[in-house]
Amino acid sequence: MEKMQLIVNGKRMDGRGLTDLRPLKIKAGVLNKADGSAYVEWGNNKVLAAVYGPRECIPRHDVNPYHAVVRCRYTMAPFCSMEEHGRSGPNRRSTEISKVIREVFENVVLAEHFPKTAIDVYMEVLQSDGGTRIAALTAAAVALADAGIPMKDIVCGVAVGKIDGQIAADFGKYEDNFGESDIPVALSQRTGEVLLLQMDGLLTKDELMKALDIAFEASKQVSELQIRALKERYAEKEAKGIAPARPAEGAQWQQ
Ligand code: CDP
Repeated sequence: MEKMQLIVNGKRMDGRGLTDLRPLKIKAGVLNKADGSAYVEWGNNKVLAAVYGPRECIPRHDVNPYHAVVRCRYTMAPFCSMEEHGRSGPNRRSTEISKVIREVFENVVLAEHFPKTAIDVYMEVLQSDGGTRIAALTAAAVALADAGIPMKDIVCGVAVGKIDGQIAADFGKYEDNFGESDIPVALSQRTGEVLLLQMDGLLTKDELMKALDIAFEASKQVSELQIRALKERYAEKEAKGIAPARPAEGAQWQQ
C-alpha cells in the first residue's frame, strides 16, 4: 500500500500546523443524576464523563480502610466508529485504557480523606476520531472537580507523536493510524508531573524530549478550557443559589 502523506507544505490533512490542537469544547455539569459530569468535543471525538462518590463501596471486598478506591470505566459506544461494528461491552483495549486512566486519578485524588468509600468514574465515547483516551481523561478530570472531589490538580493531556518524520500534537485518526509514533500524555501543569505516557513506534531520545515539551505546552490550552468550564458551572450554580460557599481568601485544604 502506498504510504499516506500526512504533511503537505508544512500543513496537516485538516490544515493544522504541527502543534495546533483540534477544536476543543468542554462543558461541566451536563448530567442531573451524577455527582459530577462533563462533556468534551475534541475534533470529531465526543465523550461524556460521569462521577459518583465518594459513596459506599460495593462489593465490600473492594473496600480499603485507609482511602477511597478510585474506579474507572472507559467504554466506546457501539455506534462511535466504523470499527466498532455494533459490538459492546468491555474488551482488551477498553480494559487497558480504564486501567491507565485509573492510575492517573489515583495519583491526584486525595483519597485518604474518604476511607472505606468508592469514587466511580465512567467515560463513554460517543464518537471517536483518534485520541479518545485523552479526551475521556480530560472530561473525567472536569467531572471529578465538578463532583467536588479534592485533587492535587485537574489533570490535562494531549497526544503527541511523529508523523512524516516530524513531531506534532493531537493526532486525528489517520495520523494516529498511519503516523510513525503516537504518545498519549497526561500531566499536571501545577506540579510538572507526567501521569500517563504510552507510546507506540520508535523515537530517538531527543525526539521524545521534544514531544514531551510540546505536550506540556499544548496541554496548557486544554487546562485553561477545563478551568473555564468549571468556572461557568460554578457561575450557573451561583445563579441558581446552589453553589457551595466560596473558600475564604488564601484558605488551604485541611490535610
Ligand atoms: O482513541 P485513542 O487514540 O486513545 O486510542 P487508539 O487505540 O490509538 O485508537 C485510535 C483510534 O482508532 C480511536 O480514537 C478510534 O477512532 C479508532 N478505534 C475505533 O474506532 N474502534 C476501536 N475499537 C479502536 C480504535
